[in-house]
Amino acid sequence: MSKVTVVGAGNVGATCANVLAYNEVADEVVMLDVKEGVSEGKAIDMMQTAQLLGFDTVVTGCTNDYAKTAGSDVVVITSGVPRKPGMSREELVGVNAGIVKGVAENILKYSPNAVLVVIANPMDTMTYLSVKALGIPRNRIIGMGGLLDSSRFKYYLSQALGCNANEVEGIVIGGHGDTTMIPLARLATYKGQPVSTLLSEEQLDKVVADTMVGGATLTKMLGTSAWYAPGAAGAFVAEAILHNQQKMIPCSVYLEGEYGVSDICIGVPVILGKNGIEKIVDIKLNADEQAKFKASAEAVRNTNDALKQVGAL
Ligand code: 2OP
Repeated sequence: MSKVTVVGAGNVGATCANVLAYNEVADEVVMLDVKEGVSEGKAIDMMQTAQLLGFDTVVTGCTNDYAKTAGSDVVVITSGVPRKPGMSREELVGVNAGIVKGVAENILKYSPNAVLVVIANPMDTMTYLSVKALGIPRNRIIGMGGLLDSSRFKYYLSQALGCNANEVEGIVIGGHGDTTMIPLARLATYKGQPVSTLLSEEQLDKVVADTMVGGATLTKMLGTSAWYAPGAAGAFVAEAILHNQQKMIPCSVYLEGEYGVSDICIGVPVILGKNGIEKIVDIKLNADEQAKFKASAEAVRNTNDALKQVGAL
């Protein structure tokens, strides 16, 4: 029996659970939320789609009852407060640090071997907090940010190219922040052709800029943070782990000298499989990309410093 828990049954968590169920990624999906009845109600609503959509995954909800999450293989942590229009992800550190730390500690009591996928913002800092607070091997704590940002990058590239987004390749590394993410335009391709040969420099710069503020743009439109792509990206990461897919996915992971930085979590390409992070992939960055990565790492480190100020570390 395979089991995934999604903590937080808000927009992102419920979307993640829904995608997991619809794609039958696990036999069992448990949603846990602090609000009485919300995860239970959403779980029943999803189960009432099982006959319509034809899935066999069993989805249940529970209000703060961590015993129900016992024996999970993968746990996706979406709990915390989303950003409002005009807010940066970094501003959420004070309110979300205590929530994420408490959740992660409770989860481990019942699922000591679970791989944790962190979505709560500021995502790199919440991943770092989990690594520092839990004392479990770094391969079992993965921040989902780079995958979402890469998906947005591919969307904007496909819009500029006028092509199917599924035929575009591209990755985003660095922090999951409006000014810290690094869409690697140099390495992006459409059917094997470098996009730099298909788009003007101006067009590419706009794709990069749009990608970086992709989340903020949606927050402005929706009045709260986006959920379909973040939830689906969480499910994608959970699936890669649970099904031992060995896929290369950009994720926020704890670095110990890779890419020239240590003691932070930041987005780099990793191979995901049953052990969580199977390998950190060292892609060769040029001097400009290296400089951007260094600056991004410093910005993430500054946000991490706030963890001490709020007493989370
Ligand atoms: C986003 O970028 C939720 O941080 C997430 O939409």
